Amino acid sequence: MKIETFILEREQSLWENEVKYNLSESGVHPGSINNHFSTQDIDDILNTELTYGFTRGSPELRQNISQIYSNIKPDNILVTNGSAEANFISILTHLSAGDELIYMIPNYLQIQGIARAIGVDVKPIWLKEKLNWNFDLNELESLITNKTKMIAVCHPNNPTGSVLPDEQINAIISIAEKNGIIVLADEVYRGAELNGVECSSFIETEYENVIVNSGLSKAYGFPGLRIGWTVGNSSYIHQAWSTKDYTSIAPGRLSDVMATKILNYDFRQNMLARTRSVLRQNLDIMQVWAATYNGQFNFILPQAGAMAFMKYSFNVNSTELVERIRDEQSVLLVAGDWYGMDNYLRFGYGTKRNSLIKALELCDKVFKTL
Ligand SMILES: Cc1ncc(COP(=O)(O)O)c(C=O)c1O
Repeated sequence: MKIETFILEREQSLWENEVKYNLSESGVHPGSINNHFSTQDIDDILNTELTYGFTRGSPELRQNISQIYSNIKPDNILVTNGSAEANFISILTHLSAGDELIYMIPNYLQIQGIARAIGVDVKPIWLKEKLNWNFDLNELESLITNKTKMIAVCHPNNPTGSVLPDEQINAIISIAEKNGIIVLADEVYRGAELNGVECSSFIETEYENVIVNSGLSKAYGFPGLRIGWTVGNSSYIHQAWSTKDYTSIAPGRLSDVMATKILNYDFRQNMLARTRSVLRQNLDIMQVWAATYNGQFNFILPQAGAMAFMKYSFNVNSTELVERIRDEQSVLLVAGDWYGMDNYLRFGYGTKRNSLIKALELCDKVFKTL
């Protein structure tokens, strides 16, 4: 299997720990165990025996995950190492060479890379800025052939932060149902909505061929735990669990214990409230900053996630711009190029407030020369 370079992740892996200010993250700045867990919790963590634990995730963790959704039982959940592993497993479980995948673009692009590597034909369905980063349902229908096996969406979307209206979710589901197509929704940003209202999950539409993948990295601010999950019907979960025997066997034992605590009702509500408050305060900073450029930066306000996806009018390539800001000012941004969309930059605004202000001042030093 020859797999293409996943440019966004590669660039982050190379540079995120080298720069002084990392604005390439799409979640809020993570806390530590001491910040977030009680003494009793810490004691429980320290006394956990480091066995393999439960390869599909402990019953307690799956129980707590099931409570996030209105219609899901613990047996419909497989715990994974990040939502990245959930996506990997979903694709390996369901798709093979010659299948067609309709893929929401722009997107995180992990699913596209894996699918192409195994010989799947990936057909983009574009979110359009003029449609408030939604897509045209007629276009979606026109892409379906008898080889279409799956429609994959990222909802809320990375990088635009857009959330689909319920009518669009229902319409996608009914198109998929009519054609016997699986819907895969990467919902890792669900819970990080700026208006404080959790958006609808595709799994709650009750269509039996829906898979939802999510995790603790973004809305909860715990990427270092590497906890994700995949949710779907029993037959899918059974196959996905056996696919996972080949990838990572089990989630980390300590991560499972901590995730179980985080997803207890009160803890979960506190973490989501913290995330939303950081996002709201920092988005204000982004807006005020962008306004100083008198139209040279434009963006549709994100509805979820810590990403401001801005179109710029300077006559310079986005990769060059990101490299210049990184090398001259030690600030890492994400280039639109890495999404196949030049003339955009993604600013991760979930970092600490003072760091965000300082990093934007440093970016000014480059932008003001253009
Ligand atoms: C849409 C989306 N899915 C999945 C991931 C992977 O996240 P993790 O494996 O940390 O849950 C990311 C990371 O940025 C993402 O943006």
